[in-house]
Amino acid sequence: MSFFKRYAVVLFAVLITGALDVEAQSAIVPQLGKSTVKEVIAAMTLEEKATLLVGTGRAPRPKPAPGAKPGVSNGFVPAPPMIGQTEVKVPGAAGNTAAIPRLGIPSMVLSDGPAGVRISPIRNRDSSVTYYATAFPVGTLLASTWDPAVVNAVGKAFGNEVKEYGVDILLAPGVNIHRNPLNGRNFEYYSEDPLVAGTMAGAIINGIQSNGVGTSIKHFIANNQETSRNFVNSIVSERALRELYLKVFRIAIASSNPWTVMSSYNKLNGTYTAQRYDLLTTVLRNEWNFKGFVMTDWGGGYDWIAEMNAGNDLIMPGRPDQIETLVNAVKHDSLNVKVLDQNVEHMLNIILKSPAFSKYPYSNKPDLKAHAEVSRKAATEGMILLKNQDSALPISKSVKTVAAFGNASYNTIAGGTGSGDVNKAYTISVYQGLANAGYVPNESLKNSYTKFFQDTRAHQMQQFQQQQQTQQPNSQRRFFGGLVPEMAVSDSLINETAKKADLAIITIGRNAGEGSDRKLETNYNLTSEEKQQFKKIADVFHAKGKKVIAVLNIGGVIDMNEWQDYANAILLSWQPGQEAGNAIADVLSGKVNPSGKLATTFPVKYADVPSAKNFPGTPVDKPEQVIYQEGIYVGYRYYDSFNVKPMYEFGYGLSYTNFAISNLKINSPLFNGMITATVNIKNTGKIAGKEVVQIYVSAPTKTIEKPMQELKTFGKTRLLQPGESQTLTFTLHAADLASYHTDSSEWITDAGKYVLKAGVSSRDIKQTTSFSIPKTIRVEKVHKVLQPEVRIEEFKVGK
Ligand code: BGC
Repeated sequence: MSFFKRYAVVLFAVLITGALDVEAQSAIVPQLGKSTVKEVIAAMTLEEKATLLVGTGRAPRPKPAPGAKPGVSNGFVPAPPMIGQTEVKVPGAAGNTAAIPRLGIPSMVLSDGPAGVRISPIRNRDSSVTYYATAFPVGTLLASTWDPAVVNAVGKAFGNEVKEYGVDILLAPGVNIHRNPLNGRNFEYYSEDPLVAGTMAGAIINGIQSNGVGTSIKHFIANNQETSRNFVNSIVSERALRELYLKVFRIAIASSNPWTVMSSYNKLNGTYTAQRYDLLTTVLRNEWNFKGFVMTDWGGGYDWIAEMNAGNDLIMPGRPDQIETLVNAVKHDSLNVKVLDQNVEHMLNIILKSPAFSKYPYSNKPDLKAHAEVSRKAATEGMILLKNQDSALPISKSVKTVAAFGNASYNTIAGGTGSGDVNKAYTISVYQGLANAGYVPNESLKNSYTKFFQDTRAHQMQQFQQQQQTQQPNSQRRFFGGLVPEMAVSDSLINETAKKADLAIITIGRNAGEGSDRKLETNYNLTSEEKQQFKKIADVFHAKGKKVIAVLNIGGVIDMNEWQDYANAILLSWQPGQEAGNAIADVLSGKVNPSGKLATTFPVKYADVPSAKNFPGTPVDKPEQVIYQEGIYVGYRYYDSFNVKPMYEFGYGLSYTNFAISNLKINSPLFNGMITATVNIKNTGKIAGKEVVQIYVSAPTKTIEKPMQELKTFGKTRLLQPGESQTLTFTLHAADLASYHTDSSEWITDAGKYVLKAGVSSRDIKQTTSFSIPKTIRVEKVHKVLQPEVRIEEFKVGK
């Protein structure tokens, strides 16, 4: 019997008995989980459908000053708080979906972000109970582990916090390709290479979702800058999309089935990504078989009806007029209700899996101690030893006293800013980490830095108050402080500490985040004051026969020129999460032998970056479009194909021990559906360590141009004791070797000779072999979609 017939029968019965009690009502109204999803949809009113497809709005903010203008964010005025909700389940979470209690549909909580659950740590001004979350290392560090098992372990701990804090879906991971080092959000993202980024994203999603909570892989797609992020038009060729920008999402989705995908703010080839059917339905659902739902970024896109038609199921954070728009569109025949039904179905299928649906009794008490350990361990695995002259590291056993220079030695940066930031209980500074490891850090230096921070803050506060006095009372703002410039250390203090300390550690800190890109002059480059100070410290310490170690506490690539020559060793610690100082000390002291490798290139100079001339787009003052002229030549694909020497290449990273790579073998010189390669790695040094073997392939270029080589697979050894060996096995299928042929919209593995290389970086190839493919393999035909509207004069080798 259809729902409507059943409803009529019951209604008749009600009229007869004259009463409809609540129990009887729930017996006849389909309930999610008890009835099928289709039955629930059939029972929904048009208003209910539209309500479910629009988030419940921004959570209420702390009381605004009377008469204050509502904040404008992401280009729109936030909605009145929480449509249809009376309480905020998880304060500080980024958003919620609507509940429809009549049908047993609960509200889900969505929270940022990529490095830890971003929620309010203190509620109702009561600090006796806190809700701090673990700050894990940023995405760029996680990728630098080249170890999916480590990243998966982070995901498991992370997902447990998501669940125990009452959140249903984590708005992470962010996987946008490192197209340009100035992108302010690169720290959240993984790599310049889609294989590394996609593999790591898959590993973290699997870990998080193993807890029975969801993720939202973001930002789909071609959102590779923050400048003009809400409207910039990314103009990208089909091939670059297929081989890089889509590929990272495809790899991650295929291996981990994220519950949701977040579309991006920007336009892609002329249309907002949230409004592109070819992207969200043709490619994502039809070609890749994605089964979850798609949500907008917060305020993404402008045409709600187009979003619904495109398959962007959920509009976030949501406003009442968006619901109204959808309802009216159906009523006036400009939107087919079947589209809403489809989108509702996508959402209900996920809601059924959510902790909210199973009424999971979350504790608000995850094991933060255990997770801090996971965070610390992962941090040590992703740190990269860039330079180690005369084995300056690990710190010699004779060193007892250390002088920690640089603001970031004291205000160590756990992670970047914006929605990628985490409200953590603490961050261990480099100073504290060294002290915890048993070193004696110089006290007078610490006191100077502490006083400097206090004075600077006081000065900033004073300036702020003066500004406030000259403004209207209603425009009162809270004081957040400003950027603290690097402290100038006096010559006498340098001399004094150099006398007392056995070693100098100089931490270079850089931060950035959502909303703006990094400034070339002051954030990517070191300022001349910083460089001069570095040199001064190094000269004084070196004159006394003492070493100088640089620690790079940064979220993205920086300029290495001049200053790096003054350091005896350089440890790239990235932004390593809340256990920062402890993890850095673990590596500096040799408790952990570094095994991280660069997943993003450090160029000699910014001008060498292939997108340097096309970032952040035109017109320069407020870019409206950005042309991805470099095409497929991003990162090492460019440096290797165009013979541009990087400062530190993709895949690079030193160890405290040495490894010998030998015996590269393949199962057959003739490709027969797959190639299996084995290679032997032996620890030939004196300290236990891990090595990453990277398999690059150079493919034949008779039909189309290809990068000089591409990473096709990789593996990391276990901890090998001195003298110990391990054999790693790699398998490649035709699809792994295919390139995208734009003319025929096909992935094709060309016939010809393939050179397979086993390296420990993209430029340190240890063994080479080759195999041939006798006949062209047409791997996959895909849809001709996402074409640029204009011709792009893409880079070509030899042009
Ligand atoms: C960011 C997203 C984030 C969302 C919710 C947006 O501004 O781009 O990454 O998940 O806000 O906070």
